[in-house]
Parts: sequence; structure tokens; C-alpha cells
Amino acid sequence: MATRRSVPRTARARPTPKRRGPKRKRLLRVLVLSGPNLDRLGRREPDIYGRLTLAEIHELVSARAAELGATAVCRQSNHEGDLVGWIGTAEEDGFVGLLLNPGALTHTSYALYDALRGASVPAVEVHLSNPDAREPFRRRSRVAPACVGRVAGFGAESYLLALQGLLAHLASR
Ligand code: DQA
Repeated sequence: MATRRSVPRTARARPTPKRRGPKRKRLLRVLVLSGPNLDRLGRREPDIYGRLTLAEIHELVSARAAELGATAVCRQSNHEGDLVGWIGTAEEDGFVGLLLNPGALTHTSYALYDALRGASVPAVEVHLSNPDAREPFRRRSRVAPACVGRVAGFGAESYLLALQGLLAHLASR
């Protein structure tokens, strides 16, 4: 009678163990961009823009993102090309949407408009102040037609409201 060759128990093939416990939810990655002169927040015209620095605003945004099941990657540049590049690669960099405070480029930049139009992720325009209530040149936004929405006039809170709006927009699709 044929006898079964003895194979040590540990060497026998075992099915890969099933992962136990609740499935981990993937955090939604949101890109938060700020343009020229916003690195000067805290010192720059605090009566208009408030006393918080951009780093402090970024901390608030990151904390709110975590509460809402998202993760925020925050960047600032004084150079239009940096912003154009970041918007252009947002999707391939794993972002599901973006917030953009373009600073004064809001009122002049067709390059940002084009970048937003070309990006396949939704964007929300953000402003600390309310540009419509200020000098006439601020009343025109070149980027607005390429955004799903706009939040302006609430200081640092504008970023948080914009984040909430973006996530609600994404959830409704
Ligand atoms: C701003 C408004 C712009 O008009 C201005 O040029 C800025 C800041 C805001 O956040 O209120 O730099 O985008």
C-alpha cells in the first residue's frame, strides 16, 4: 500500500489568510493651492486678510480634512508656472479635487484658467477677502468659469468651507 510521504506541516501550502477586521477606507486626497503673496499672510494687510499665517491656515485645513475623511496636501507659490504645473498633474498625482486661492492671478491669469479647464478634477476658488467688495479690478475672476464653485470673504474659514463644498460636490457625483 502506498504511503503518503510525510511533509512537515509547516511546509504544506496554505491558503493566504483572509484579512480580518473592517476594510480601511481610502482617504480622499485634496490639493490646496495658494498663489502670490499668500506666503505673507499674518503680516500682509491683516485688516483685510486676518492675522493667521498660511502655515496656520494649512494646519486648520488639514485638521478639517481629517475630520471629513480626507487628506489635504497644501502648497504655495509666488510663481504662476508652479501653480499651472501642480494643477496639470493633480489627477496623476492622486488628487480627487483641488482648492485654489490664486491671489492676484485670479484677475489676470488665462494660464490658470486653461490649466483648470484641462484638469480632470474639480476645483473650488477660494478667497480670504471678498474681492467683489473691493477695488473694481478684483471684480473679474479669470478662473471662476473653470471652477465648480467659489468661497470668498470669510477669512481662513473660506478655505474650510471650500473644502466642505468640494467634498460634498465629489460625494454627489
Ligand atoms: C485674495 C484676493 C485677491 O484679489 C488678492 O490679490 C489676493 C488675495 C484673497 O484671498 O482675498 O492676493 O485672493
